[in-house]
Amino acid sequence: MKYDFDSMIDRHNTNSFKWDYVARYYDHADILPMWVADMDFKSPPAVIEALRRIVDFGIFGYSGTPPSFYEAISGWMKKRHGWEVNKEWITLSPGVVPALHVLVNAFSEPGDQVILQTPVYYPFFDAVKAGGREILDNPLRLDGEQYVMNLADLESKITSRTKMMILCNPHNPISRVWRREELRALGELCFRHNIVMVSDEIHSDIVYTGFSHVPFPLAGDGFAERTVVCTAASKTFNLPGLQTSSIIISNAEIKKRFAEEMRRGGVPSPGMFGVAATEAAYRYGEDWLMQLLSYLEGNVGFVRKYLKENIPGASLAQPQGTYLLWLDFSNCGVPGDRQDTFIRDIARVALEPGWLFGCKEKGRERMNIACPRALLEQGLEKIAGAVRQLRQD
Ligand SMILES: Cc1ncc(COP(=O)(O)O)c(C=O)c1O
Repeated sequence: MKYDFDSMIDRHNTNSFKWDYVARYYDHADILPMWVADMDFKSPPAVIEALRRIVDFGIFGYSGTPPSFYEAISGWMKKRHGWEVNKEWITLSPGVVPALHVLVNAFSEPGDQVILQTPVYYPFFDAVKAGGREILDNPLRLDGEQYVMNLADLESKITSRTKMMILCNPHNPISRVWRREELRALGELCFRHNIVMVSDEIHSDIVYTGFSHVPFPLAGDGFAERTVVCTAASKTFNLPGLQTSSIIISNAEIKKRFAEEMRRGGVPSPGMFGVAATEAAYRYGEDWLMQLLSYLEGNVGFVRKYLKENIPGASLAQPQGTYLLWLDFSNCGVPGDRQDTFIRDIARVALEPGWLFGCKEKGRERMNIACPRALLEQGLEKIAGAVRQLRQD
């Protein structure tokens, strides 16, 4: 079956955070939303069918999680990532972000340090700071067209108070799919210092041709024993509103501590909709995902070409995965004092500015390209128009 990613679906008045709440954050009602990380595409038909069966039944009582759900996760991880996951390793959470808060509480004390690699998905900052922990910032370094880790910097900063790292694997917003050697070097350094590794792998299924996702537990000997993997079907199949994620921990001791902290925090399990949708997606969604990936790669190519032809000076960190692009508008001739606001105020496109992710340089923006190409083109045209208007050569 051929899936349609080209049709524009009007998401206004559906209580969509991305579309219906954008003016609240960007001050303009006429702004084109390319911010929040969800997709403007319908989920696979098998997911919609699974949800419809529940709706048609019409009784929404308390629900459990059937063995078939865990089997679907294990099957997917084995098939897509070559990773054998036992049912006993999986704890459900209503989201990766709530789980990160719990993990920080479980594996560090107030005043301890948690490593983050900026620029990074900004809710990580709050997960660290909410309970009085400190961020140990190990900024990524731009090396040509792509970002790399700076382990020398990390080694020089680690102290006896450094207890945990939250890794973004693949990395949002700079769209890197980390290579096995990079992960192995990182793990060897962290584990030498008894640091617990939390690998957020929510973007692991959105990986472009020529790259492949490496689950952190598979990156080196003994890594599985000291790693927590946070994952979900939510980015892959556009289900984030159903609030279902899986926290995978093979070390029984670490899993127990995490589960106790979840209980202490009163964190609930996901509801029946999220469980059913996740299972259906993992069981029947692979063909849809293949077509999605091909469409997204087309979008990446479209952005590259558009920038080259229409916005001289704009550049793009090499996209290896995720549907989030990291763009640099700092060399387009837009005056410095306008670089962090012109896309919002002049172009009227809602991207997410670099500073939100802890980026110190001006003119960096994250663009969500999980939308029909026609909408992508609209957004790029608006940005090109704003650059032409402000350019000072
Ligand atoms: C790296 C990363 N982790 C977690 C999330 C959100 O996870 P959840 O909705 O399961 O809390 C996102 C959403 O964009 C993300 O990019």
